[in-house]
Amino acid sequence: MNTTLPPLIDPFARAITYLRISVTDRCDFRCVYCMSEDMKFLPKKDLLTLEELDRMCSAFIDMGVEKLRITGGEPLVRRSIMTFFDAMSRHLETGALKELTLTTNGSQLAKYADDLYAAGVRRVNISLDTLDDQKFADITRWGRLTQVLHGIDAAQRAGLRVKINAVALKGFNDVELFDIVNWCASRDMDLTFIEVMPMGDIGNEDRLDQYWPLTDLRNQLATRYQLTDLAERSGGPARYVRLEESGQKVGFITPMTHNFCESCNRVRLTCTGEIYTCLGQEGWQDLRPALRNTPDDDAPLYEAIRAAIGLKPKGHDFDYSRQDVAGKMSRHMSHTGG
Ligand code: GTP
Ligand code: 5AD
Ligand code: SF4
Repeated sequence: MNTTLPPLIDPFARAITYLRISVTDRCDFRCVYCMSEDMKFLPKKDLLTLEELDRMCSAFIDMGVEKLRITGGEPLVRRSIMTFFDAMSRHLETGALKELTLTTNGSQLAKYADDLYAAGVRRVNISLDTLDDQKFADITRWGRLTQVLHGIDAAQRAGLRVKINAVALKGFNDVELFDIVNWCASRDMDLTFIEVMPMGDIGNEDRLDQYWPLTDLRNQLATRYQLTDLAERSGGPARYVRLEESGQKVGFITPMTHNFCESCNRVRLTCTGEIYTCLGQEGWQDLRPALRNTPDDDAPLYEAIRAAIGLKPKGHDFDYSRQDVAGKMSRHMSHTGG
């Protein structure tokens, strides 16, 4: 780490130590709450090269970022992505980076789990909303459950700790709540539920119809389990409970029912070099000129990053409470990787 650089602090005194970097906007699935069926993707020539992604991430690490989460789209569909993971592992070795991880749909894990472990990844978050083959095919449009289950097997065999991310969807996986919880316990996997956020125009799906508040989900869990709130954090927005009967950990990500923006520690970088300092606001800055104009000097890049973080908003304005969807974002979740 370049110890001469002051840490990244935003206008609300929040230290920015977590960078989520979307390495591709493409995905081999088309989850209904994430993408429309006919998504238009960026031309490949617009993407930052792996070398540019490296320089970008390294600049953030120089400025105090300790946690790097690789996202997409589906990060593992980007060509030669393991070269990038391997390159980032040098920051783990120096101790500047505390965690190198990814969020994935699991489809490519059978191929990459061992390589990820070798690059220093110890934990993966895998998105999985249902254990039913047909429902999985319906919600992901293009995905197949068995492929993801094989990916999960491979991840665990490789020694990666797995956390399952399930978007809580009324009329969809509410009936499977206890099945999903039990399945995660039986495989020693953590589990986090996520409230569906109004990101992107996704066709005929209605967010309000889908929305299942985690306050309700939690109450349902409490009918069968004793829940103990835990103080421990994984660095993201989840708040965890322990289910005393099974000992397992369940997380809740509640942008709608309990705003967590006051403790936000993260920003997002897209695969074209745009920085989004809030998932729930439209504002972004382009870091690409600072990256490209001075290939041998990082100072302008540091300055551009600091300027962007100086504009980080207080939080999102998502709101479903008036029987209407307020604070909706025009961009899709896959643009910033969640
Ligand atoms: P951990 O390191 O395990 O804590 O992961 P994480 O929750 O930081 O990352 P993950 O990619 O698993 O994100 C899970 C969900 O949380 C996704 O749906 C994200 O969109 C959502 N999420 C992550 N950060 C934010 C945030 O700053 N604001 C909002 N509203 N949602 C977020
Ligand atoms: N609301 C909440 N979570 C979403 N994800 C994708 N779209 C949405 C949405 N509209 C989740 C995915 C994945 C994570 C990166 O974001 O399921 O777990
Ligand atoms: Fe792909 Fe993830 Fe979006 Fe599903 S939620 S379409 S797996 S990027």
